[in-house]
Amino acid sequence: MALPSVVPAPASIEADGSAPFALASGTPIVAAAEIADATEALQSLIETRTGLRLDTREPADSAADARAIVLEIAGDGAAESYRLDVTEASVIVNGTDAAGLFYGVQTLGQLVEPAPGGWQIPAVRIVDAPRFAYRGVMLDVARHFHDVATVKAYIDRTSALKFNHLHLHLTDDQGWRLQLDSRPLLTEKASATSVGGDPGGFSTQDDYREIIDYAGARHMTVVPEIDLPGHTHAVSLAYPELSEEPVLSDHIREIVRDYGGELPVNGVPYDGMAVGFSSLKIRDEATYEFLADVLGEVARLTPGPYLHIGGDEALGTSAEDYDYFIGRVSRLAASLGKAPVAWHEAGTATDLEPTTVGQFWGYVEPIDGMDAKARGFTAVGSDQGKLILSPADAIYLDMKFDADSPLGLTWARGVTTARRAYEWDPAEVVDGVADEQLLGVEAPLWTETARTLADIDALAFPRAAAAAEAAWSPAAGASELRTWESFAARVGALAPLWTSQGIGFTPLDGIPWAVEVAAGADRGDA
Ligand code: ACM
Repeated sequence: MALPSVVPAPASIEADGSAPFALASGTPIVAAAEIADATEALQSLIETRTGLRLDTREPADSAADARAIVLEIAGDGAAESYRLDVTEASVIVNGTDAAGLFYGVQTLGQLVEPAPGGWQIPAVRIVDAPRFAYRGVMLDVARHFHDVATVKAYIDRTSALKFNHLHLHLTDDQGWRLQLDSRPLLTEKASATSVGGDPGGFSTQDDYREIIDYAGARHMTVVPEIDLPGHTHAVSLAYPELSEEPVLSDHIREIVRDYGGELPVNGVPYDGMAVGFSSLKIRDEATYEFLADVLGEVARLTPGPYLHIGGDEALGTSAEDYDYFIGRVSRLAASLGKAPVAWHEAGTATDLEPTTVGQFWGYVEPIDGMDAKARGFTAVGSDQGKLILSPADAIYLDMKFDADSPLGLTWARGVTTARRAYEWDPAEVVDGVADEQLLGVEAPLWTETARTLADIDALAFPRAAAAAEAAWSPAAGASELRTWESFAARVGALAPLWTSQGIGFTPLDGIPWAVEVAAGADRGDA
């Protein structure tokens, strides 16, 4: 018999076809007051999906809890794990910890389905735990600025797929998006525009705290990125004395020819899409005074353990200067009490702070020594959790999903279909890296072409679900659910849930998108 659809695929799922649990307006949620967050998450998920607002009550004796949805935290088991037991008589969601309970609730929300005259939850037993501790999404708020409401919406959508880190790409050539008390000129002078001459914007510190709190309530840790030493043209608008002159390579001239826009000029806002022309002055102590202020303030504002220092595409910096800079700045981040994170190029730095985590953004089959750079991180310091995998030709969510869409780019080996986003395994990308050296998986979404939440939705969904499966689910081969055919059927079944939540996913070909005739109405065929 067909198993109920859950994405990302759980570690274990069994169903014997016995009678479902009938969900009705009188079904209570039984949960202790201390776990009100999980109760509220479930209430709102069920209400959005079905229109039913369930009441809650404190646990009584077990007999009184029959015909109820019971939420509880057990405290024993792997971090973030949960069990979900659905029978005709009851639904029990048992989290090892608060995060596990939250994920059990998300799974339960995916199981709710229309029944004749109402709603039901199919009988099922799920025992689930994540494959990787770090499951990230990245949102670029620099190429186009995205405000608190949009970031919160992205947190809602991605935490529901069991992602637990939100990497915010806060600065780039096109704008500086976080207000800093130590360096107020950055947002005063360098935040007004976005790519294509679109309006810019920035987050105040209150906005940033609001995002961190909202993410935390959904078990997501914010990872701030200040991209250095390249991708820093915006700094030249506020502190021209810290910026080298733009390096106008053939690549930059080609991008300007193909996509329009102007060549970058220091002190003038840049709204094109070229990369790799800017650099901070590497041999000037004023640069490090600036970075002590900037990284110090970002570290103080951020409760999470990570501080991303960028390091990608520093084509305007000599190899020797890059090496010196990355060593020094990775150690500065560590001295601020954070684990530095850097894109894979930084793995070449001879004096890299040993706790630095590398983020691989090469291809599933690496070319041009991308994998050797990534191995630089695993060669130093502890051998645990040193690499995050973000293969650009699989899970860069900003790549075009079909050739005709105006949204998205194609530089990462052309169009990235949902199938290509799905069919790769994190353990097989960088040779010579042991499984325990992998910290996890992150799906970035760069926003050169993404102006609105609707654009973000159209690019990210359904491919973010494929990335969630790489990050959470057992490896391909370790579960019969880990095939493209199974994924396509399961993700297609999420269409009514996503629609009820206002997620403007792209109904890509090759996925059987479920259509609900009239949710909750008598379908006659059931
Ligand atoms: C990157 O895509 N430049 C990390």
